[in-house]
Amino acid sequence: MGLEIVILAAGKGKRMYSSLPKVSHQLAGVALLEWVLVTAQQLHQQTIHVVYGNGSNSLPEAFAHYPVSWIKQEQQLGTGHALLQALPHLMPKSEVLVLLGDVPLITTDTLTLLCEQTPPHGLGLVVAKLSDPSGLGRIVRSSEQKILSIVEEKDATPAQLKSNEIFSGILLLPQQKLMQWLPKLTRRNSQGEYYLTEVVSLAKATGCDISSVLIENEYEVRGVNSRVQLSELERYYQRQQAEKLLKQGVTLLDPNRFDLRGNLQCGQDIVFDTNVIIEGTVVVGDQTCIGPNCLIRNATVGKHVTIKANSVLEDVVIGDHCTIGPFARLRPGTKLAEAVKVGNFVEIKQSTIAKGTKINHLSYVGDAIIGSNVNIGAGTITCNYDGFSKHKTIIKDGAMIGSDTQLIAPVTIGAGATIGAGTTVRKDVPAGELAINNTQQISVPNWQPHGKKEGKGN
Ligand code: UD1
Ligand code: CA
Repeated sequence: MGLEIVILAAGKGKRMYSSLPKVSHQLAGVALLEWVLVTAQQLHQQTIHVVYGNGSNSLPEAFAHYPVSWIKQEQQLGTGHALLQALPHLMPKSEVLVLLGDVPLITTDTLTLLCEQTPPHGLGLVVAKLSDPSGLGRIVRSSEQKILSIVEEKDATPAQLKSNEIFSGILLLPQQKLMQWLPKLTRRNSQGEYYLTEVVSLAKATGCDISSVLIENEYEVRGVNSRVQLSELERYYQRQQAEKLLKQGVTLLDPNRFDLRGNLQCGQDIVFDTNVIIEGTVVVGDQTCIGPNCLIRNATVGKHVTIKANSVLEDVVIGDHCTIGPFARLRPGTKLAEAVKVGNFVEIKQSTIAKGTKINHLSYVGDAIIGSNVNIGAGTITCNYDGFSKHKTIIKDGAMIGSDTQLIAPVTIGAGATIGAGTTVRKDVPAGELAINNTQQISVPNWQPHGKKEGKGN
């Protein structure tokens, strides 16, 4: 018997006050729906069906890289109605696992346990005991502790509200039972919706076995209905990641002010100062130090690298012993070899820079290939764009580029060449030569600044 998964993701998410579908809001940089999809894919399922809503036509496109059967729920009439839309698409005699698009941190282990522990032909529920169960459906049990029903908070009696055992929204049941029960759901409740939770009373009435898996870690079953709840899950998740890194031997000067939105692979004795944000896939080598307020996205950073405060790096490769920042911006395609120094207010994009080269202050380097031990003075600009296309600047080993130089690409500076300060370089400079612009400095004697009275001082 196969396992079919249905993810309910069509709800409007009213309490998010957003123009985006709720399930496309992100937790640690990943959309809520993607969290659930990734978890679902770990199970040996036949098909993953996603029920999406009217306002969320963008979802199938945004998740086109996932093999998903998309089912539209035209009107959001409740979780029971949402699953009803999926019913014709489910394989006969399959087991159906229902997940919620707004419960992102559920784990594969829990779902596997649910599949193992639910009796054949029975109904299995994932439940939890919460210190604050407010807003959630409560499990109603008999005096013998048998599950009788689930009651939504808005429909619960004061006695039922005292129970802190909640329904996670996640359940497993046979397709055949869904065929019987879903058409029987009513809208007789305070919200006038078709509640999926009503299948529990229908199961009870027909003598179906009902079992539950109790989750210890409440964050696993916490749903996201508001931005407050989303931020609580984010902080929980970030704290978990930070603790994992600390346990691996990474120093986080403040674990509460470190954010990882992706995958980070760390060597030994790495230090992250406060407010570092890591996104995408980042690898950091031994003894590297990342200063405060840095954003690093998709990067391979070598050993013994120092990245000083307020630097932004994206799609870059940084060799060992480099020093970067403060306030450096390394854009996609930047490749620094060993021991390169990039100082403050330097922007580099799509450029390769060889060993030992220094670009210490206020420069723009774009579409360049720079050799080793080159010194680029303050205020150097590669003028790489002529309004139509981008051109290359090539600077060979050992060249010395004076301050305030404009290199008008395409242009090549030969090995060991020197460019005088303030030069606009329009032609290639042969190796070993000096290039300066032939403009003379003139001095005007007895210059009277405009408006300044003769004979008077400042
Ligand atoms: C639901 C459960 C509640 C449980 C809680 C756990 C019901 C009636 N209630 O409440 O018992 O404690 O989840 O988080 O099932 N959705 C649709 N179509 C709809 C309505 C909802 O696809 O017409 C989707 C939503 O996108 C969401 C999920 O179903 O991903 C849950 O819906 P939501 O409205 O958030 O239900 P809760 O009130 O949280
Ligand atoms: Ca919810």
